[in-house]
Amino acid sequence: MTKPQAAQRSAKLRDLINDYRYHYHVLDESIMSEAAADSLKHELTQIETEYPELITPDSPTQRVAGAPLPGFSQLEHSSRMLSLNDVFDQAEVEAWRSRISKLLPAGTKLEYFADVKMDGLAAALVYQDGLLVQGITRGDGFVGEDVTANVRTIESVPLSLRASHKFSSFLRGRTEIRGEIVMYKADFTRLNTARAKQGKPLFANPRNTAAGTIRQLDPKLVASRPLHFMAYDLLRDNPGDIPSYDTAYQALRSLGFQANRQAKILNSIDEVMKFADKWETKRQDLPFNTDGLVVKVNDRSTYSRLGVVGKAPRAAVALKYAAEQATTKVKDIFVSIGRTGAATPVAMLEPVLIAGSTVQMATLHNESEVARKDIRVGDTVIVHKAGDIIPEVVEPLVKLRNGSEKPFQMPEHCPECKTKLVKYKAEDAAWRCPNEACPSRSWKRIEHFASKAALDIEGLGEKNVIALINAELVKDPADIYKLTVQEVLGLDRFADVSANKLVSAIKTKTRPPLSRFVYGLGIRHAGAQTAVDLANHFRRLETIAEATIDELAEVEGIGEVVAEAVVEWFSEPRNQKLLAKFEELGVVPEPVKRVGGKLSGKSFVVTGSLETMGREQAGEKIRALGGTFQSSVGKDTDYLVVGANVGASKLTKAAKLGTKRLSETELIQLLKP
Ligand code: IVH
Repeated sequence: MTKPQAAQRSAKLRDLINDYRYHYHVLDESIMSEAAADSLKHELTQIETEYPELITPDSPTQRVAGAPLPGFSQLEHSSRMLSLNDVFDQAEVEAWRSRISKLLPAGTKLEYFADVKMDGLAAALVYQDGLLVQGITRGDGFVGEDVTANVRTIESVPLSLRASHKFSSFLRGRTEIRGEIVMYKADFTRLNTARAKQGKPLFANPRNTAAGTIRQLDPKLVASRPLHFMAYDLLRDNPGDIPSYDTAYQALRSLGFQANRQAKILNSIDEVMKFADKWETKRQDLPFNTDGLVVKVNDRSTYSRLGVVGKAPRAAVALKYAAEQATTKVKDIFVSIGRTGAATPVAMLEPVLIAGSTVQMATLHNESEVARKDIRVGDTVIVHKAGDIIPEVVEPLVKLRNGSEKPFQMPEHCPECKTKLVKYKAEDAAWRCPNEACPSRSWKRIEHFASKAALDIEGLGEKNVIALINAELVKDPADIYKLTVQEVLGLDRFADVSANKLVSAIKTKTRPPLSRFVYGLGIRHAGAQTAVDLANHFRRLETIAEATIDELAEVEGIGEVVAEAVVEWFSEPRNQKLLAKFEELGVVPEPVKRVGGKLSGKSFVVTGSLETMGREQAGEKIRALGGTFQSSVGKDTDYLVVGANVGASKLTKAAKLGTKRLSETELIQLLKP
C-alpha cells in the first residue's frame, strides 16, 4: 500500500470504528459484531505500524476511555477499573507467561486462576461496615455513573454483607466488590418474546439489554428486568486480607455473592488451554454469553507487583475464543456450478483467519442476494463463519469504499461448458446450467453420491474425484463401480494401499440402503430426510420411479415441489440410462422390507424429545420391529409418541385425524420384543 492509499484507508477505518464505538457504548446499539470491529481495528493498527506518522490522537487505537452518560451523577472509583489485553491461542498465552516471568524473581512458580469471561457490563459495589452504599458503573475506568438505586433492585446484589465466620472482618470498614452485571440468555429470549407480542422493538443481545437497563433512570423499570451480578473481585484497604483470587472467590461466596463455580486454580499453561477448550465447547450450557476466559496470576501480591501497562494489568489476560467474524476484501466474484446445475456466485477473498481456519472463499448464494447486499469486487466485507457452515458474506462496509469497487454482473453462460444459463421458472432465485453433461456437474454429482450421508464411500472426496474424471476413468456415479486397482494405481494421487482401499470400499457398497441410494442420486430438493420418507413409503426403487406426482405428494413430508422434481428426475432418459447402468453393474439398492415383526404395518411419529433415547434411535428400533417411522403426522400414522417440550402443531393434527397418542413409557412397552 502506498502512503496516500494508507492515509485514505486509515481515515475511513478510523471513522467507521468510531461510529461503531459510539453506537455500542453510548447508544447501546450494535452496528456490527465486536469481532468485525476488532478485525477493522487490527487492520488500522497494521497500517499505523507501517506508517506511524498517520496515527492521530483520536485514532481508536489510542483510545482509553468511553464517554460517561449524562443523567446520572458521577462517582470516582477507589482504584482504576482496568480492562484486559486479549490473547487468542496457546502461543500468545505462552508469550504472556514468559513476559511476566522475566519480571519476577527467577524460579517463581506461577499458579493461575481462570474463570469464564462473562459478556455483560462491569460494575463496582461499595459496602461500608457491611452495608451497600454505592453501585458504580465502570464508566471510563476512573469515573463511573452512580447507579446505586438500580443495582439495589438486582436480587443477586446483597444489600448487606452476610456475616461469615472466616471473613467477618469484612463487615467492618470499606469492602468493594467488583463484578459483571449480566442478563441470562433465557431471560433475554423471554423478554424479547414478550416484547414481540406487544409489538415493541426487540433488543439486540443480552449485553446491550443489561447495559441499557442499568442506565435506566427509573429503578422500577430496572427491577422489572431480570439482571444478575456475578462477582469476580474483592478489594479491601488492607490487601493482606485476601492473599489470592481463589480466596477472593471463597470470600465472595460466603459474603453472599454469586461467583462462578466454574472458576478454577490451574498450574500450567497446558491446563489453561485444556480448561479453555472445555469451556469453548460447553459454553452453550452456561446461562450467560461468554467469549473466552479470564486468566490471572492467582497470588495477589505477585499480581500487584507485576503492575499495569496502558489500561490493563500485566498479570491477567482475556483468552478469547476464535472470533466467528472478521473483515476482509473481495478480490473477485466468480460463479460456481453445483451438482444440480445451480450457478452460485462465490466471493474470492483476501485470506483471513476466522474461528481458527483461513477463509478464502465465501458463498454469495445467488444473483439477487448479491444485488440486495450490494456486494462489489474490491469491497471490504464482514465474513461470518460458525462451526462447519460455509463461510458467508454478511455485508459490505460501504463507508470504506473509494470508488474503485465494481458491481457484480451475472454471466450469461456457464463458466465451465459455456452453455447459456437458464431459469427453470421466472421466480427461481438461481440461474442454472442446463447441460446435464457439464463437467463441473459430474464431479459434484459423484462426490455427492459417495458422501457420508449417501453411499459413504471413503476416499472419494473432491480431489480424488476430479483426478478420476480428468483421467477419463469416470463420468457418472455408476462408473465408479467399474474401477480397477490397476486403473486407480495409474494416477499420481494413489499408492498401492490407497488404490486397493478405494476399490474395495466401492465393492462393499453394491447393496446400499434404498434411502441412501435415493439421496445419492442428487435429485433436486430431495434431501436426506426426503429420501428416507420416499424409501419408507415406496420400499423399492422401481416403485419410486413409477410414482406419479399425486402419489408422491400423498407421502407425509413431501410437498408438490419435491414431488415434481422426483418425477422429472426419473423421466429424464439420461437418468434412466444411469439407473440401468447401475443395475448392469450389479448395484441394487436394498428394498425396505416389511419385516414380519411385532410392529409390522404400524407407523409412528415422535414429537418432542424423549428421555431414554434419541429420535433416530427410536426410529431404528421401530423399523427393526417392522414398523414405519415417519417425520410428520398423516392419515396413515397409527401412533404419535409424545415426548417433552412438544410443539402444538403435531398434537393438533393428531387430534384432528384421531391418531392414537403414546407416552414414552408406552412406546418402551411396545418396543419390548
Ligand atoms: S476479572 C482487570 N473476571 O472483562 C479486570 N473480568 O476485559 C479483570 N469480565 O472489565 C477483571 N468476566 O468486566 C474478570 N470472570 C471475569 C470476568 C471479567 C467478565 C469483564 C470485566 C472486565 C473485562 C476485561
